[in-house]
Amino acid sequence: MENKILEIKNQALDEINKASDLKSLDEVKNKFLSRNSQFNNLKKGLKDIEPSKRPKIGALLNQISSELSKLIEEKNDIFYKKELSEKLLKEKIDITLDGNYIPQGHVHPLTKTINEIVDIFNYLGFSLIKPELSPEVELEKYNFDLLNVPKEHPARDVQDTFYCENMDSVVLRSQTSNAQARQMVNSKPPIKIISPGRVYRNESVSARKNNLFHQIEGLYVDKNVNMAQLKGVLNEFIRLYFGSSRPTRYRSSFFPFTEPSVEIDVQCIMCHGKGCSVCSGSGWLEILGAGIVDPNVLEAVGIDSNTYSGFAFGMGVERLTMLKYAIDDIRLFFSDDVRFLRQSV
Ligand code: DAH
Repeated sequence: MENKILEIKNQALDEINKASDLKSLDEVKNKFLSRNSQFNNLKKGLKDIEPSKRPKIGALLNQISSELSKLIEEKNDIFYKKELSEKLLKEKIDITLDGNYIPQGHVHPLTKTINEIVDIFNYLGFSLIKPELSPEVELEKYNFDLLNVPKEHPARDVQDTFYCENMDSVVLRSQTSNAQARQMVNSKPPIKIISPGRVYRNESVSARKNNLFHQIEGLYVDKNVNMAQLKGVLNEFIRLYFGSSRPTRYRSSFFPFTEPSVEIDVQCIMCHGKGCSVCSGSGWLEILGAGIVDPNVLEAVGIDSNTYSGFAFGMGVERLTMLKYAIDDIRLFFSDDVRFLRQSV
């Protein structure tokens, strides 16, 4: 009996020695120390042995199985640490690597310009108009009539203005000036508002013209509003928008709703006044129309023109954006070319 036990022990020692990893060690453990192992069967068989020999054999079996367990445990510990460090090495994370790039959305260049301009005029004391006073689908009354635009004016022609089919006197507004008419009908002076939005004109599309574009309208009505204030506000706007003072030029002009009327040019950013293809050789670029609100307009909207006066202006957002960023084709704003759109932050 004892020989048999020692034989199994030697076999177990041999196999423990040969085990090369956690898995094979576990197999050895199962083979020699589990319930159905040969050792356990020998223990179970103790009851059949002669009682006087039982304690010695029993003690031997216990001693061997705890020796083997200890050995297996020690080796298990070594294998475990080894495998763990191999695994950690394999799964090592390089924290110096860049993370995944998640592309960010962009504000459209025109929205960026509108936001900037609105901020500047907020700073100069103008508030943003209520959206309901600046609709894109508009009655002729606000787009033309109240603004002193005569019935036979060429701007009213279907060649210039989009009329809504089967709806009498309804147009896609051709200018944001409809907002000043609505604001004056709906409130009393002092009025100091700014109104950005889309406008539509029946034009053939080219690098300089699109049939949808954006304008920003401004209106200031109070007692004693005059041309000097208009110049002060618009010069300050130009300085803040372009980031430095720029030579400007006021040219007299004509709009049905202002008298006197002016157009403002800034020196061409491309050639600095020398004359180039962008400014058609003149050295100047027009950025807005403006003037002192015609007393006829004030009277038409119910404001006493003897007590109040006002100035108004309207500027093209595309034009201002093109000038600031040297963009040479208006159609880029309405294309879905992401290379263009991504440039705006
Ligand atoms: N509405 C004019 C246009 O589209 C621009 C303009 C000129 C607006 C003079 C004004 C203004 O408010 O006073 O060409």
